[in-house]
Amino acid sequence: MAFTTVIALLLATSSIVVSQNSSSPSSTSVANASQTSSAPASFVTNLELSVEDLWDLYVGPVSTFSINTTVQPTPIPSSSLIPPPSLYYPSFPTGQQVPLQSKNESWRFPKTFWYGVAGASYQIEGAVKAEGRGPSIWDVLSHRVPGYVITNETGDNADNNYYMYKEDIARIAALGIKTYSFSLSWSRILPFGSGPVNEQALLHYDDLIDTCISYGVTPMVTLYHWDLPLFLQNSYGGWLSEKIVPDFTEYARIAFTRWSSKVHYWFTVNEPIVFCGFYPLPENFFKKTDIPKKQQPYFCGHNVLLSHSAAYRLGKSINSSLSISFKTNGGYKIPRTDSAADAQAVQRAWDFQEGWFANPTFLNGDYPPNLKSHVETFLTPFTDAQKEQINGTCDIFAHDAYTSDFIEAPESGIEACIANSSHTLFPSCYNTTKLYANNYWAIGPASDPGSPWLYKATDWVPAFLHYMQDTWKPRDGVAITEFGISEPYEELRTNLASIVIDPLRSAYYRDYLSAILIAISEGVNVVGTLAWSIYDNMEWSQGYSVKFGIQYVNLTTQERYFKASAFEYVNMFNVYQEK
Ligand code: GAL
Repeated sequence: MAFTTVIALLLATSSIVVSQNSSSPSSTSVANASQTSSAPASFVTNLELSVEDLWDLYVGPVSTFSINTTVQPTPIPSSSLIPPPSLYYPSFPTGQQVPLQSKNESWRFPKTFWYGVAGASYQIEGAVKAEGRGPSIWDVLSHRVPGYVITNETGDNADNNYYMYKEDIARIAALGIKTYSFSLSWSRILPFGSGPVNEQALLHYDDLIDTCISYGVTPMVTLYHWDLPLFLQNSYGGWLSEKIVPDFTEYARIAFTRWSSKVHYWFTVNEPIVFCGFYPLPENFFKKTDIPKKQQPYFCGHNVLLSHSAAYRLGKSINSSLSISFKTNGGYKIPRTDSAADAQAVQRAWDFQEGWFANPTFLNGDYPPNLKSHVETFLTPFTDAQKEQINGTCDIFAHDAYTSDFIEAPESGIEACIANSSHTLFPSCYNTTKLYANNYWAIGPASDPGSPWLYKATDWVPAFLHYMQDTWKPRDGVAITEFGISEPYEELRTNLASIVIDPLRSAYYRDYLSAILIAISEGVNVVGTLAWSIYDNMEWSQGYSVKFGIQYVNLTTQERYFKASAFEYVNMFNVYQEK
């Protein structure tokens, strides 16, 4: 691989501190060689590193899978497309319908409603070093940081989607699913995050997109789903620095320019609440920062809003008809009691979660009041020009809405928490729980213990959809861009027949989609859904131990199998979508 970069090493700590990723100098040089200094922080040198060197120095050896060239799809046997036997009794006795359930005649998904499945680059692609991909922070987190992934697993092979995407698209098309949402790997396209562009990666995504189109599947693209190019983290702190804004915008420009004639729906970033929460990153594996730990997520958020809005405006200037948004996330927030303090806590929860990113883009270019009063104690407020740039830069309210939570004020009271920066709930100062106020019953059935944040709480979905529409008034409607559930203890099941029957996930999709149908019948403009996930994959710090797929993947052979929930999901559209 011909790509090289120049990094400056802080000799005193051996961490990377500065980057310059354009043309490389002919030889290694040591800055200030003839000067003396007693300040170790001023000792800096330049090194010329290739992509391979980055892997060797920061990640180490990676594993590869035996299938390492693009696989042609095999025909999907019709025997694998037979729906499972009925898993439950219908909830309303209005007459048996074909094929699986009774039908509420007052419900319908409009013809334009899109439904699909989603995945993300690091979680499914594998082939991490193939064809010039540079490392991302997740290669370091999974390989180098003990226990960061509790199972000590990596995304090295994941679902081998990098080579098996044709098969994967053929399988969802065979089910009748017409939309596939995936993310691009930034460090495949730009191995250093900025600078030289890797043509092999562009060719790969060209074919992935063309394959979708040839199967009648609409591709939806997310630019950033958490796999930040390592080089950008170690050059200037990644999302902690405003330097990321031009780099992200240039990356977006490359993608929009190449694919905007084939891809209509774009998501700039996935769940900034979550990935900004990765900061502070584990110490001693990345470039150090002086930004106080509790402030780091908000520096990240600030630069995400600037990057997203710059990319949005650039995308629209390239093709004004594109749909561009980011994906936020969070559950419905229910006051645990009817006290004034709990009502206040609920508002703080909206402000510190969805509102953090949604208020600036959908309402007024600025943070919601509760967040603003905290963030502006250490961050420069957005200028009027920045507010104008940010405001109006999401076409749909794309929300990853898995669950719901009860919200309550901290025991010590909200004001005492706000006044005490060492309070465990500071700065958001609200508490969440899955238990009703009687401290006995949970909000719904629990998912796998590996995802304790997630219970099936589909009863709250209509209220949640109304809240999104009424609060943020998205011009092109609300989409649920991820929803799903980890079937409890699925990883303990050893035989195929028990793995592929997933009753909780099946009920989740049926009840969630019924709830969306209710909201639509009440006037909420819900425009689409994406089930998470196309198949079981690398569930971040849970490794492969927690399963979200509507398909099972045998990771030893990389064979895929439909689960019952896949049929449940599709069936709801077969029954309710206008033809
Ligand atoms: C989302 C995330 C996905 C997936 C899912 C299930 O927050 O975007 O990558 O991991 O949660 O936990």
